[in-house]
Amino acid sequence: MSKIDFTGRVAIVTGAGAGLGKTYALALAERGAKVVVNDLGGARDGTGSGDAAANLVAEEIKAAGGEAVPNFDTVATVEGGENIVKTAVDSFGKVDIVINNAGILRDKSFLKMDEAAWDAVIAVHLKGAYCVTRPAMKIMREQGYGRIVMTSSTSGIIGNFGQSNYGAAKMGLAGLANVLKKEGAKYNIKVNVIVPNAMTRMTEDILPAGMADAFKVENVTPVVVYMCSEQCEDTGVYIVASGTADGAMYCRSQIMTNMGQKFEGVPTPDDIAGRWGDIMNLDDARFAEEAAQLFMGQ
Ligand code: NAI
Repeated sequence: MSKIDFTGRVAIVTGAGAGLGKTYALALAERGAKVVVNDLGGARDGTGSGDAAANLVAEEIKAAGGEAVPNFDTVATVEGGENIVKTAVDSFGKVDIVINNAGILRDKSFLKMDEAAWDAVIAVHLKGAYCVTRPAMKIMREQGYGRIVMTSSTSGIIGNFGQSNYGAAKMGLAGLANVLKKEGAKYNIKVNVIVPNAMTRMTEDILPAGMADAFKVENVTPVVVYMCSEQCEDTGVYIVASGTADGAMYCRSQIMTNMGQKFEGVPTPDDIAGRWGDIMNLDDARFAEEAAQLFMGQ
């Protein structure tokens, strides 16, 4: 297989001023991509803003001989998303790659989750992906090529105490990818999902202490770079990127559906209770999409 090369490609990485996004921006640029380094530059809870983070990463790329432009818009508004895409078009003429990576946290147990904390997290993660991806996908459709990465989380696909806003947004991104993989299919637009595990500002007090060596940001970078490449022909795939003391580890995750339990007519709740064990049994489970013919009548 040919070496992954982004010469002639234009990438937008949101939240690229720090953490995982910074590594994606540097790695894409190192392999020839022209990169829009977007970052609002605020605190972990999304308050504040500043130019320093995006500027530093763009400068680092340029100092290494690459091409980059900083952008300081928020992903959380339509205007911000459009301006991020406009920055790519004005600076480099097009958009081939979008990594929806920007993120904030406002953790609280659900009963203490006020509307402001709920709305802020949904706005950056879920609406942010809408705001940036939609104008970018219009360009990708016209050019018949695109690679989009959504960033989900185990807080969504498994659940995590105190992160109802975040978990809901992150699972929403998986659903968004499921739909966009279908809408993008005939235009060679691939939409995949990264589920990272890495020690960053966002997770330093959440991931188990003493795991910094296992949960390196560098473990996540190569699989995201692969998802952004022409070589990646899969779409709608969720990869959990993690690590052990010995190195990186990647797991594929999917929603599974069993082959179903049929009833004569409409059962009573007591009939359900009687067959609950069979309904729950996942021994014959397969990917939900493959099993969809069973429950969609296809
Ligand atoms: P980070 O806090 O180091 O980076 C997030 C970046 O997004 C920051 O530089 C921040 O300024 C930027 N940002 C925040 N709001 C923004 C907005 N409205 N517009 C533009 N930029 C904005 O965190 P990390 O860990 O690198 O997170 C990157 C992504 O990975 C996030 O979506 C996060 O939810 C996700 N993630 C990370 C995990 C981990 O283990 N580190 C686990 C699961 C998901």
